[in-house]
Amino acid sequence: MIEFTVPAGMKDLIPEECRVKRMIERRLEDVMAARDYVEISSPTLEHYDTFSIGLNNRREEENYRLTDAGGKMLVLRQDMTVPIARIAATKFKHVTAPLRFRYTANVFRITRAFGGGQNEITHCGAELIGVPSHEGDMEILTMALEAMAFLRERRLKIEIGNIDIFNAACKEVSLRPETKHRLATLINGKNLDELAVFLERLDMPAKTRAFFNHLPLLCGGREVLETAGEYAFTDEMRAGLTYLAAIYDALVAAGHEETVALDLSKIPALDYYTGLIFEGFVENVGEPVVSGGRYDGLIGKFGTDRRAVGFSVKVDALVPLMLQPADPAGSEKLNIAMTKGRLEKQTVRILEEVGYGVGPLKNKGRQLVLSDTEKDIDYFLVKANDAITYVEHGVADIGIVGKDTIYESGNDFYEMMDLGIGKCKFILASLPGIDIFKKRGHVTIGTKYPQVAKNYFNGLGIDIEIIKIDGSVELGPILRLCDAVVDIMETGTTLRENGLIVLDEICDISARLIVNKASFRIKRREILAVMADIRAWRERNEIISG
Ligand code: PRP
Repeated sequence: MIEFTVPAGMKDLIPEECRVKRMIERRLEDVMAARDYVEISSPTLEHYDTFSIGLNNRREEENYRLTDAGGKMLVLRQDMTVPIARIAATKFKHVTAPLRFRYTANVFRITRAFGGGQNEITHCGAELIGVPSHEGDMEILTMALEAMAFLRERRLKIEIGNIDIFNAACKEVSLRPETKHRLATLINGKNLDELAVFLERLDMPAKTRAFFNHLPLLCGGREVLETAGEYAFTDEMRAGLTYLAAIYDALVAAGHEETVALDLSKIPALDYYTGLIFEGFVENVGEPVVSGGRYDGLIGKFGTDRRAVGFSVKVDALVPLMLQPADPAGSEKLNIAMTKGRLEKQTVRILEEVGYGVGPLKNKGRQLVLSDTEKDIDYFLVKANDAITYVEHGVADIGIVGKDTIYESGNDFYEMMDLGIGKCKFILASLPGIDIFKKRGHVTIGTKYPQVAKNYFNGLGIDIEIIKIDGSVELGPILRLCDAVVDIMETGTTLRENGLIVLDEICDISARLIVNKASFRIKRREILAVMADIRAWRERNEIISG
């Protein structure tokens, strides 16, 4: 049968959307053209190797791959910075710097299935090549701010950071690449509790540990630089801070104080950045709408060493926003997505004990949106997976969700707090007498958590077949659908009453407070207030329970 739909992650635009999109593009292009940035274009398809050279740690599953007639692997371009670096190093090898390029082009990245993300989006951006750091960074930042000035009434916030500071600290303690990567993920995800546990296990001086522990919260105004100065422990780190201070002060002097902020915990997934990095957020858009930074090593990978800095705007992310009227007052109301079921009672109890108005939550009937009678908060009770989806889209500012669901469903949000409730474990279980570690032939695992099961067995080097089961997973081995199950165990009653035994404990799980990345900028004060209340509750409880 012919399908009259578009492939996953693709989108048609109706005339109103096309009109707004072109208007945004023209606005951005005009600002760039006025500063002598000339248009450049590159093919939609690139050799697979071009992106392998450009992006060390890209995720293979995010690529659209295909082959040419000769069987050579090609990819749909994932960004425009890598192709422009290739062009600058080859076709402009002999052209004297500076080079100023701009582009409006579609880039492709496969997002989580059914997550509501767009896999083809238009980037409108600029690259400045061959200009020294301060001068080049200021030119790009000033241009980005001017190009996006039309978003000021949408509460635009541009946050700047300097990756050199984190790198200098890591160099001092000679971290292995995988340790550094894990550390970067925890810091960039503002995962404060797991970060503290992770750092405790690493052998490093107390001052280094204190610096890394504080990094996720080093965001805000100029005071951040003073605090960071107290934690910095090498000249290179201090130089990185001084550099950032000079950029920040220059932007403030140019009248951007309201729009610009600092975030020292920004460690981008793309590893080509060196020095300055920045991201921009606006209200009601759950992801960064602009990102950029310096990438001094990238062009050199294609054969001609040149320093460079640039940025790109995700035009499509702005289209729905610009189709709505701006809200001049800007709502500060918080939306909290709570997981219903197991975690619900305990979460409501915490909120009640910290003095929030939970009456409607306790007598909710069939109502789905429940307003706090004490605070300016709306709660909605949803399934765990949906809590993540709502937070990723910025519909909910905060989510309360189990770590089991986070392991399974990705993490495009800040995982800011371990609530210490809903404690249970991921386990591998089966009937007595079945030793799946020694079994010959196929091993079949039943689970609600295929990703967790896959990662666990990959780590052990065991090839398994996974059967996804949505509930009462313990039935699997009993009815011989599978050899064993990967599931959560809280009290162990379900296993015991069904004659299953634990073969291995995979990891501990508890409920987490997650935060949308854009909300963290736009409603920072309100979010930090909720976190402070819950943290105080947690500390009181830890004292009581010893
Ligand atoms: C979970 C899990 C186990 C059970 C473990 O299922 O999948 O079946 O709880 O808890 P216990 O160790 O305290 O017995 P849940 O109750 O969420 O329902 P489901 O099986 O329908 O998913």
